[in-house]
Amino acid sequence: MKVVVVTGALGGIGLETSKLFKERGYTVIGTDFADSTDSTFEKFFQGSITDETMWKEIQGYISQKHGHLDVLVNIAGRNYLDQIENAKLAEWRDMFEVNVIGMVTSIKYVSSLLKKSKQGAIVNMSSISAQIGSDGYAAYCATKGAVDSLTKSLALELAPEVRVNAIAPGWIETPFTLDGLQKSSDPVAYRKQVESMHALNRVGLPAEIAKSIFWISSEESSFMTGSVVVVDGGYIVKN
Ligand SMILES: NC(=O)c1ccc[n+]([C@@H]2O[C@H](COP(=O)([O-])OP(=O)(O)OC[C@H]3O[C@@H](n4cnc5c(N)ncnc54)[C@H](O)[C@@H]3O)[C@@H](O)[C@H]2O)c1
Repeated sequence: MKVVVVTGALGGIGLETSKLFKERGYTVIGTDFADSTDSTFEKFFQGSITDETMWKEIQGYISQKHGHLDVLVNIAGRNYLDQIENAKLAEWRDMFEVNVIGMVTSIKYVSSLLKKSKQGAIVNMSSISAQIGSDGYAAYCATKGAVDSLTKSLALELAPEVRVNAIAPGWIETPFTLDGLQKSSDPVAYRKQVESMHALNRVGLPAEIAKSIFWISSEESSFMTGSVVVVDGGYIVKN
């Protein structure tokens, strides 16, 4: 039985991804801030992605129950909106703590289990924001730039046993982006503007990102590692 760990497993993209892996026959282990009794998960770990104690428990559970791990999907992430003159350094530090160090922590604790799989894969959640920048979201963009660099270096470090890739989505409809929408002065007009910035003239769905994550973790992409794959409905080409 193939085993996957999904972080941020209760979020918009995380839950769709967990369900897709389950549908495709994987045993799914989830983790997030909140707890879950959803039958999608064989086991759920509640806690912060940055908590080493939790990762030691996850490592111990997988070692004992399965002896190996096939896929780690790092989805947990947060956002912070501010102009640089007003920047709260504690928020910046927490952005890096969650979006980057959290990823480093999960990889540190499960990479030996991934090496035991015949086709281990890590998928890190980046964003096109790392490549295009975003007014007011400098902290977010900087953390996603770090995710891209981390992905490339760890692809070298963990090869050939484990492939490491990142997915960089455009605007996907989840609580994460709806929150940003609500912070704008005219959410309806902003939404229309965002849609028109994508060549496909719409925003993406969490299920569309889940499919890309599944593909890049699977045999179908067996010669890919160190790649940051853009899944953005044509946002970058249009802008
Ligand atoms: N939605 C988009 O348009 C979009 C675009 C590009 C990239 N992303 C990235 O995709 C990922 C998921 O985004 P989403 O849209 O599903 O957002 P979401 O807010 O629905 O989900 C994020 C999940 O991460 C969890 N999380 C946050 N901080 C955590 C922490 N410290 N410890 C444990 N869990 C934590 C949250 O509880 C939540 O369940 C994020 O990394 C985000 O940066 C999203």
